[in-house]
Amino acid sequence: MKKRTHHCNALRPEHANQTVVLSGWVNNYRDHGGVIFIDLRDREGITQVVFHPENAKAHEQGNRLRNEDVIQVTGVCLERESGMANPKLPTGGIEIDVQELQVLNKAQTPPFTPDQAAKVDEKIRLKYRYIDLRRAKMQDTLRLRHRVSKIIRDYFDAQGFYEIETPFLCRSTPEGARDYLVPSRINAGSFYALPQSPQLYKQVLMASGVEKYVQLVRCFRDEDPRADRVAEFTQLDLEMSFVEQEDVMSVCEEMVRRVWKEAIGVDVPPVPRMTYAEAMTRFGSDRPDLRFGLELVDVSDLAAKTDFKVFKSALDAGGMVKAIRVPGGSKLSRKQTDAYAEWVKQFGAGGLPITKVENGACATGIAKFIDTIGSDLVTKLEAEDGDLICFGVSAQASVVHRTLGELRLKIAEDLDMIDESMWAWTWVVDFPLVEYDPQAKRWNSLHHPFTAPMDEDVANLADDPASVRSKAYDLVLNGSEIGGGSIRIHRPEMQQQVFDLLNIKTEEAREKFGFLLDALNYGAPPHGGLAFGLDRMIMLLVGTDNIRDVIAFPKTQTGGDLMTEAPSPVDAEQLQELHLRVVDL
Ligand code: AMO
Repeated sequence: MKKRTHHCNALRPEHANQTVVLSGWVNNYRDHGGVIFIDLRDREGITQVVFHPENAKAHEQGNRLRNEDVIQVTGVCLERESGMANPKLPTGGIEIDVQELQVLNKAQTPPFTPDQAAKVDEKIRLKYRYIDLRRAKMQDTLRLRHRVSKIIRDYFDAQGFYEIETPFLCRSTPEGARDYLVPSRINAGSFYALPQSPQLYKQVLMASGVEKYVQLVRCFRDEDPRADRVAEFTQLDLEMSFVEQEDVMSVCEEMVRRVWKEAIGVDVPPVPRMTYAEAMTRFGSDRPDLRFGLELVDVSDLAAKTDFKVFKSALDAGGMVKAIRVPGGSKLSRKQTDAYAEWVKQFGAGGLPITKVENGACATGIAKFIDTIGSDLVTKLEAEDGDLICFGVSAQASVVHRTLGELRLKIAEDLDMIDESMWAWTWVVDFPLVEYDPQAKRWNSLHHPFTAPMDEDVANLADDPASVRSKAYDLVLNGSEIGGGSIRIHRPEMQQQVFDLLNIKTEEAREKFGFLLDALNYGAPPHGGLAFGLDRMIMLLVGTDNIRDVIAFPKTQTGGDLMTEAPSPVDAEQLQELHLRVVDL
């Protein structure tokens, strides 16, 4: 094999008459009256190479080339005749007159070609991931991901952060998902957990005097995958000592500003802030998508003036009625609105009362039941003829918010109301420290148990936990939570108080995080940090809503790797060594 002289994106008319050596894959071939044209592809681009019958040996070999063969050509770069140039290709002004061909590897007929991949079932693409990854879009994503990692590393390096690796074989970390467990061969019956995040290690690093830590790190969570969630994902994880919330937020905000500018040329303006309470009240979500309206409006006061049973029973039970106005939503058919009414039931709603606005009044759906408030409602919602009004009604505010929060996203998508060119950033701050789980009858952390309560709310910890806000913050972009973090508790007494509230018993706390409590006891500085979902950042940068598109070797929805066929059974010997037996339960 000769040394290649150029990549397949490099040659231009000014290279005419140079002898060049190109290597790559046969992207496609065409025979035009005996002249063979091949688009040669490497990771950088495509160049047309031409086999003329006059060069008998190369032509004869060229005739046998098929898609995805790996070849090297030596030839002369020629400027294409006028009218023959291909303006769609950067190299479209030239072609290579092949003098010599070396077939480096003959490919079998592939199950699909990179050009076809976008239309091929994802399962097939994942099985033959190496073919899928050859296409330009995937190569661009791999390159962008590499560049983003580099920008991030350079940025944090300049800020004095150390990148420090933390263990993968560890104790369970409490981020709320199930752990992946790894049996220990040497310690029969004991298991490591793969980290859900390096949370505890990074806190210990602060107690270790590191002051500024960062890591691009794989995290593992055995939870049901969704479009923006996978079992194995990458965090950009960081932690800082002697800082307040503002310090962490500004370091992170500057980082995303750098990334967006350097990676895709987009300016990130100062990121606005919204409290958790406002996000829930106006958008029904703690990661509001601010690219469109459809805001939730509390109409409980008007609803209370009707005899409509659905409204009344929710309000009598201490609940609420909220509405969203869908501009132009009257065009939705009965079938579509009925489908929404079914769909919202998964969020605990009993159904979805609606009405359409005609002649300045409520006209269909529940209009006849709310006659007395019809015009006030139209005024309050600033509704216009042709609008649709949807109501979220429940005895529980959380159900109303979840229902309308999800519905607003679905309707915006269905009615094409989202401006895809927009970047809508917001910090969400002032999260509650804990939320009550009525089923389990206990308080749970909203972020994690190491998050510090706001100083001014600490006094209410014992008597009114629901009112206590935490020093937690999330960075939200276009409705996606790309990062979240908090200032941590750094005094053991406070940590104990929060464990008590969460009903984590002293022995349990000792057993699970005794090392952290010890570290807090032996001089831990005030500290805080944040972790970004790197995959989610890349998804937004490349504009895909499928997280698997931005991961080289992703797992499927059911946690499988279709290429290697992991997970797989192991042989009896291996199980025995690990002191394990598989039983049907
Ligand atoms: P958290 O659990 O919020 O915080 O995770 C931080 C960020 O990681 C991303 N993320 C995921 N991305 C893909 N697939 C998943 N399954 C997944 N789970 C989370 C999200 C999220 O914002 N230790 C804390 C951070 C801290 O307090 O510093 C933590 O892990 O983008």
